Amino acid sequence: MNDGRTLSPGQASFNITNDLPTVWRPIYTQTRFIMLNELDRPVERRAFTLWVNGEEAHVLVPVHKTLLEVLREDLRLTGTKHGCELGECGTCTVLVDGQPQLSCLVLPIQVEGRQITTVEGLGTTSRLHPLQEAFAALGAAQCGYCTPGILLASAALLERNPRPSRQEVAEALAGNLCRCTGYVKILEAVELAARRMADG
Ligand code: FES
Ligand code: FES
Repeated sequence: MNDGRTLSPGQASFNITNDLPTVWRPIYTQTRFIMLNELDRPVERRAFTLWVNGEEAHVLVPVHKTLLEVLREDLRLTGTKHGCELGECGTCTVLVDGQPQLSCLVLPIQVEGRQITTVEGLGTTSRLHPLQEAFAALGAAQCGYCTPGILLASAALLERNPRPSRQEVAEALAGNLCRCTGYVKILEAVELAARRMADG
């Protein structure tokens, strides 16, 4: 039985009077009005050419869209995660010319012609990056939401410093928050990957 709060699977259309409790109707109406206004708003769009994971990508997007939004919504690279959008959590980290950047604070125009690496470009399904193998081996990812950003920040660290100390790993990952692991396994996984990469 439909209690008015959910749409049943076969229900083709949404009727505000029948399908929504009275208390929710003004909120629905106001939200719908705001969304329709937003869709109607004239938005300046621009074509960009981005290099992502070694491939050229052409996009035509509103100029205010962040790199994070373009990666996820236009290029369907959803490995880059959407967190705070304020530059505070690190979950949106990508590499730009090998350096970690917070994609929620970057506009596509700032990275045109530069090499962008997302977690999709770190390894392949048949050949994981040593960091990915180490994270899997040590259980350094739990919900995994922070993991793409941490993997990329770690990859940049190991590129410039192949045998970092525990302190150096912690400093390199200081901008990447994890709510699950307590960080110890993450630090251990980066150290394990560093050893394995050094050993070839
Ligand atoms: S989403 Fe970019 S730093 Fe949090
Ligand atoms: S594994 Fe869940 S936030 Fe890090």
